[in-house]
Amino acid sequence: MLLTGRCLSKALQLTLAVIKPDAAAHPLMSEAVHQRILDANFVIIRCQDLLWRRQDSERFYAEHSGRFFYQRLVEFMSSGPMRAYVLAREDAIRHWRELMGPTKVFRARYTSPASIRGQFGLTDTRNTTHGSDSVESAQREISFFFPDFSAEEWMEKEEPSFRSGHFHYDHEKQMHIVSPQS
Ligand code: RTP
Ligand code: MG
Repeated sequence: MLLTGRCLSKALQLTLAVIKPDAAAHPLMSEAVHQRILDANFVIIRCQDLLWRRQDSERFYAEHSGRFFYQRLVEFMSSGPMRAYVLAREDAIRHWRELMGPTKVFRARYTSPASIRGQFGLTDTRNTTHGSDSVESAQREISFFFPDFSAEEWMEKEEPSFRSGHFHYDHEKQMHIVSPQS
């Protein structure tokens, strides 16, 4: 059997990315982050603006309850609109976390000045973006933000088209979509 390029290429991985309220409040900043996503060759599978109630924020960050920053984090994350993405790429989780830079903004500015947090982060809480940190958290977080999205179905029906490059960017929807077969 001949091994084609597609057989050899690794399956795309999904991750959840969020533009937090500090950056979402400024159109120029959220547009710049959106452009960084495109420049880094992520495929934008879903993109949605939303606003959390305090209880959404508490539920999402339950793993941090009891930490000293928990109250200010849940308050901040429900303080204004956000933008959530499902992103796809090889090793999407690691690449997105690399692009975001370190959690703590002073460290990001010092060690990774070109990262998103290094460039736009304000404080350790208002640090511009969120990204899943494992395959398990990506699954949980994608379902939290996009309850109608089925990762299994996407992997089966759409991933092969995206992996083999049969997609284009829809400027109006600000997402990539599978191109019609010619
Ligand atoms: P994220 O979950 O937002 O992608 O960031 P992360 O994994 O790098 O950070 P994590 O430890 O999961 O913390 C979640 C969010 O809590 C806020 N935080 N504030 N010292 C502080 O004040 C502090 N430490 C963490 C940040 O907004 C962080 O992104
Ligand atoms: Mg985290």
